[in-house]
Amino acid sequence: MKFSPEQIPAHIAFIMDGNGRWARSRSFLRQRGYEEGAVSLRRITTHCRELGVRETTFFALSTENYLRRPRREISFLMKLLKTYLVKERAMLMDNNIRLTTIGDISSFPSDVLDALHETRTLSAGNDGMVMRLALNYGSRQEIINAVRALCADVREGRLDPDRIEDISEDVFSAYLADPQMKDPDLVIRTAGEYRLSNFLLWQSSYSELWITDELWPDFEVEHLEEALDAYVRRDRKYGAVVDSTSREASGNSGGI
Ligand code: IPE
Ligand code: IPE
Ligand code: MG
Repeated sequence: MKFSPEQIPAHIAFIMDGNGRWARSRSFLRQRGYEEGAVSLRRITTHCRELGVRETTFFALSTENYLRRPRREISFLMKLLKTYLVKERAMLMDNNIRLTTIGDISSFPSDVLDALHETRTLSAGNDGMVMRLALNYGSRQEIINAVRALCADVREGRLDPDRIEDISEDVFSAYLADPQMKDPDLVIRTAGEYRLSNFLLWQSSYSELWITDELWPDFEVEHLEEALDAYVRRDRKYGAVVDSTSREASGNSGGI
């Protein structure tokens, strides 16, 4: 293996962008781009598992996509999601991967919710890696929901209103969509846009970012390895002064 286990990021988050452009460049319908994107998703998921990554999060549909894309595109994505959830059960089980989601799925069609429930339940005992799909997910909405839930706990006496100084980062994080999520070590965005588009704003405060011009359906294992090559060379400083001399002197590897 090219990377040693401690070099591998524990959590990689992906912004899977460029499916539409991939299709357009081949004069295909956008739908075809999403289908190819799903093939890429499978390839990258199994490779992350082989590398020993513990958690992956894939931005599949943003709150803004769900609100602003044409209805027929959203219904195509719903059908594709359902097919994907059924088809990938064997891949999840063979690779010991647990499927989970973040985002507001409450308005998804009931057959999609059923497929999701079944795949989640089936893979619930898998502990090799987490595959987290962000579906109708928006980071600002997630933060607002967390604030609301926290305020409700204050109102109902589960948090002491006279001790709001106890509301630490850890306390707050427990109200986010997946309290078990570790902050991503690496966020990869395909298709060359230099923005986060409302993805994991709280959680990616200190994530390393990697942006590639490759479109998501073209994103191959070798491109992931390129990102990892860059990642292992980064100095994660977390605001501290970290150079090789101070690291040797203090024995501090740059963590908080
Ligand atoms: C990512 O692909 C978004 C979704 C899967 C909904 P895009 O559909 O945004 O692809 P581009 O940006 O048009 O190429
Ligand atoms: C971000 O891509 C959302 C997903 C990849 C699901 P977009 O294509 O929606 O982002 P913008 O609109 O270019 O910022
Ligand atoms: Mg896009």
